[in-house]
Amino acid sequence: MKWPTNVTIKEVGPRDGLQNEPTFIETEDKIKWINMLSESGFSYIEMTSFVHPKWIPALADAVHVAKEINRKPGVTYAALVPNAKGLERALAAEVDEVSVFMSASETHNKKNINKSIDETFVILDEVIQEAQKANKTTRGYISTVFGCPYENEVPIENVIRVADTLFDSGIHELSLGDTVGVANPVQVENVIETLLKRYPTDKLALHFHDTRGVALTNIYVALTMGITTFDGAVGGLGGCPYAPGAAGNVTTEDLIYMLHGMEIETGVNEQRLLEAAMWIEEKIGKPLPSKNLQAFKGKKTM
Ligand code: HMG
Ligand code: MG
Repeated sequence: MKWPTNVTIKEVGPRDGLQNEPTFIETEDKIKWINMLSESGFSYIEMTSFVHPKWIPALADAVHVAKEINRKPGVTYAALVPNAKGLERALAAEVDEVSVFMSASETHNKKNINKSIDETFVILDEVIQEAQKANKTTRGYISTVFGCPYENEVPIENVIRVADTLFDSGIHELSLGDTVGVANPVQVENVIETLLKRYPTDKLALHFHDTRGVALTNIYVALTMGITTFDGAVGGLGGCPYAPGAAGNVTTEDLIYMLHGMEIETGVNEQRLLEAAMWIEEKIGKPLPSKNLQAFKGKKTM
């Protein structure tokens, strides 16, 4: 067997997927959509983000969304948290998991969260400690692992420094972000090989944006190296307003089509997921990049 038999998909559509959309999705619609995703069989949904509403107006209703969704037993409902103020709001909204985030490149870190990398270490260490005191698990994201929109190449030593610091602070899992979708399979293999010398496979997840159509191939490479956790966004939604040129995340339903075809279990019901993708596409009001969704719609109208 060259790949795992089970994979966890972490659905980040309600957060990464919506944070950069010009159309504001009504709070009630966000709630309905997250409930549909819960019913599709995900074990993990990143439901929103407790960043500053001025920086990400699309998710200004984070507390309301987190409080009003149906919490399906067995599903972890996570959210992004950038600092102590964000943690205070996230705890009030009863998140299950706190996801901290920072970049491996100085310029993206500054543009995204208005701090240097060293300043961010101090802020996130406090968030991680306080989250753990509140009995929350913590996930760390590193952005620009495979390239930065401002600095281009990012040395692997920078990634290792951030990863070591976040693990030392106590994160339970690290998600490696290809923020602008520049990674290629050889690079992915090299980065994973280097990191697997320091951390076990089950501590690492991959978060590919699919700007250039290489995300599924990159995931295939990661699968052959034993990685079993991948982030995806329904419809191929997603992007970061502070990373110019970034397209959406790898499309969850395309990824699931590939995995199920390879007889890799995900626990997600593809049909229900496609219905949820079609539903949010209508709310967003434009065709989404998902190939599986477009094929599904084509069949429906035949
Ligand atoms: P700042 O302006 O430097 O904040 O922003 P500050 O600490 O100086 O505080 C200024 C004011 O904001 C204060 O209020 C704070 O209380 C308030 P005042 O005293 O002036 O009345 N404040 C907050 N209010 C609500 N919620 C908060 C919060 N924090 C401070 N959390 C900050 C710093 C981090 C807040 C800002 O830069 C920010 O919100 N950035 C978020 C940007 C973002 O969300 N980017 C996208 C997510 S990352 C991503 O997409 C990448 C990822 O997908 C992986 C990948 O693809 O690579 C994860
Ligand atoms: Mg992202």
